[in-house]
Amino acid sequence: MGKIHAVITGISGYVPKYVMTNEEISQIVDTSDEWIMTRIGIKERRILKKEEGSGVGYMAAKAVEDLIRKTNLDPKEVEAVIFATSTPDYIMPNAAAMAAHRAGMTNAFCFDLSAACSGFIYALEVANAYIVSGKYKKIMVLAGDVLSVITNYTDRNTCPIFGDGCGAALLEATGEEIGIMDSIMRTDGNSLQYLNMIGGGSVNPASHETVDKNQHTIWQDGKVVYKHAVSNMSDTCVELMQRNNLTKENLDWVVPHQANRRIIDAVASRMGVSSDKVMINIEKYGNTSAGTIPLCLWDWEPLLYKGANIILTAFGAGFTWGATYLKWGYDPK
Ligand code: UT7
Repeated sequence: MGKIHAVITGISGYVPKYVMTNEEISQIVDTSDEWIMTRIGIKERRILKKEEGSGVGYMAAKAVEDLIRKTNLDPKEVEAVIFATSTPDYIMPNAAAMAAHRAGMTNAFCFDLSAACSGFIYALEVANAYIVSGKYKKIMVLAGDVLSVITNYTDRNTCPIFGDGCGAALLEATGEEIGIMDSIMRTDGNSLQYLNMIGGGSVNPASHETVDKNQHTIWQDGKVVYKHAVSNMSDTCVELMQRNNLTKENLDWVVPHQANRRIIDAVASRMGVSSDKVMINIEKYGNTSAGTIPLCLWDWEPLLYKGANIILTAFGAGFTWGATYLKWGYDPK
């Protein structure tokens, strides 16, 4: 084998059955379908109800089950499981370990990765480095969140945005000129004040006080986050395009994190890419944090073909952000 690349050889996802519409949100807080559609672009989101199942591991298990079926994967061949999530089933053990156990990936070493909405591209970055090192050949990347459990349903600034969902991607080593080609990953750790959930960690461990102060839910300064999301995602995408000779013509798809339709449109416009090349499913799932990009790839899988030039880009708490350029690994099955 010549130069080793890490390529996605299968993608799957799972979203819970319960559909929470804008009409339902409007009965909980002072908002409207028109405001949410115009300002964010979300029509409905999925919510994991206790009657269906609990924890992000429940959704991951469904996604992995489907992925194993689609790829004829022997789960025992998977050597590592990386789970990008901000809502693991428990603080410990890690969610990846339990997901691996459930799916029979019993020869894998497993860990969670915390990078909020950038979790999927960060996890791809790590999996890619493991594979190109030559030491590992098959890695399962899981990415998703049950944001409904950390959403403040009395805050109209945040509660319409979030939903639940999880994706799964199988990465394998290949000698072909496909898979992950290049990436730019960035972090600015001086942004706690703009996007956070400050309760439940070692600074503010769970207590009556943290519950009373609503510190176990996401808070954000939406306008600041919005501006950083647009400029940082588009800057990394433009840099990635320039150094890989990608143009609006030869770039086939952009897969942006789904936080706000207006952010997605602004990033595509700064990249000079027409909207028909941008994967968007925010209207039906909302922002599922680490889950948005794999859920888009899962939705669009029938339209993807071997060698298609794709840029993934995300922005989230941290701040974390980045962009990954990959050539798709297979034709529709
Ligand atoms: O995935 C992690 C990264 N997160 C993001 O990327 C999110 C980035 N931020 C955003 O997407 C947007 O900033 C929001 C969707 C959160 C908010 O949109 P905005 O256009 O920035 O609205 P705003 O915060 O400036 O609020 C404008 C007005 C305010 O009223 P006043 O003060 O002008 O009277 C808000 O109180 O809209 C009001 N408002 C609402 N009205 C109806 C805020 N939320 C709502 C609502 N329904 N749900």
